[in-house]
Amino acid sequence: MKTRLVTLLILLWILFVSSCDIPRDPYFDVATSAANSAPTLDPYPVSNSETSEIPATPSATPTRQAEACPGLPALHGVNLGNALDAPWPGAWGVTMTEAMIQSIADAGFNATRLPVRFSAYTGAAPDYALSESILATVDQIILWGLDAGLIILLDVHHFNSLMQSPTTEEARFLAIWEQLASRYQSLPATVYFELLNEPHGEMDAETWNRLVAQSMTLIRQTNPTRTIVIGGVDYSRIEALEFLVWPDDPHLAAAFHYYEPFEFTHQGASWLAGSSNWLGTSWTGTPDEAAAIQQAFDRAVDWSNAHQIPLILGEFGAIGNAESTSRQTWTGAIARTAERRGIGWFYWDLCSEFGLYNCEKGKWDKDLLDVLLP
Ligand code: BGC
Repeated sequence: MKTRLVTLLILLWILFVSSCDIPRDPYFDVATSAANSAPTLDPYPVSNSETSEIPATPSATPTRQAEACPGLPALHGVNLGNALDAPWPGAWGVTMTEAMIQSIADAGFNATRLPVRFSAYTGAAPDYALSESILATVDQIILWGLDAGLIILLDVHHFNSLMQSPTTEEARFLAIWEQLASRYQSLPATVYFELLNEPHGEMDAETWNRLVAQSMTLIRQTNPTRTIVIGGVDYSRIEALEFLVWPDDPHLAAAFHYYEPFEFTHQGASWLAGSSNWLGTSWTGTPDEAAAIQQAFDRAVDWSNAHQIPLILGEFGAIGNAESTSRQTWTGAIARTAERRGIGWFYWDLCSEFGLYNCEKGKWDKDLLDVLLP
């Protein structure tokens, strides 16, 4: 209690003295600024020979259950997407407020993932000092989240230059984590760290495993027991879990992302060339469609049980362009499939193209919310 109060005072002080200069990401491609710059994911094939229950309908008995979830509560979260993962705060039209965070808790979520493009706010080598301005903004959102009783997953997002050139950028990555770990070391255990969103590009498994080991050693110096979340390469797809070399550490969780069928979840995505051809794709939860999800998640669970590492579904979501019944059916199917296997989830996202909340009007998409949190 006392530690919490001291932390709160320190963070408030930092907020008070911080300045407002927000440097632009030198690696950001302005041409994509109107849209979200997520690269195209290759939809990966899942075999669908088996058919079983349609996952939108909750069933009493799990097909398979993750056995290893030490200390991880049943996470029902939402991503604060397009806010601090944008090239600069507000660039993608989402600015977090205390009321928005409180609405998330009031709606029944118990967690939120905070993606931040920290690489856009670093100073010169070798310190790569993070700007006080972005740190103060992050402090504020974390505090709002903690006050609302939410678990917070803080994530290093859209580090594009690291994906393009890991060797020249790894020092910046490690410096970012050294600073975050030191700054947030006295925060409650309900703040988790996620090393890097969707490693991809030149960040192959070997390079990523080396960086995971280095950053873990560094973070553990100040945060010996904090939950650290790690996703695999290839945009954290399920298959990539198998390439991760896990540090021997009892406070880890593995993240994967799930957006399949990609043509359904990303139909008409403004940043994906050709995705307008996918408009009108529906998802009704046919036996084959249901089986594809179940098989993918069972594969993740098998991996989790074999390695005794709990799983987190860090992102899943369907774009608002999708017809609403399909969107609800798919979203419910994924959430239930995860829950039945003991996997905590974070919907992508609050109020962007995939959102379920109108941030300007302060209104939920009730149908989608009810599907997520029945
Ligand atoms: C990206 C977002 C994107 C979402 C869905 C996330 O990992 O960071 O920018 O909108 O995936 O593609």
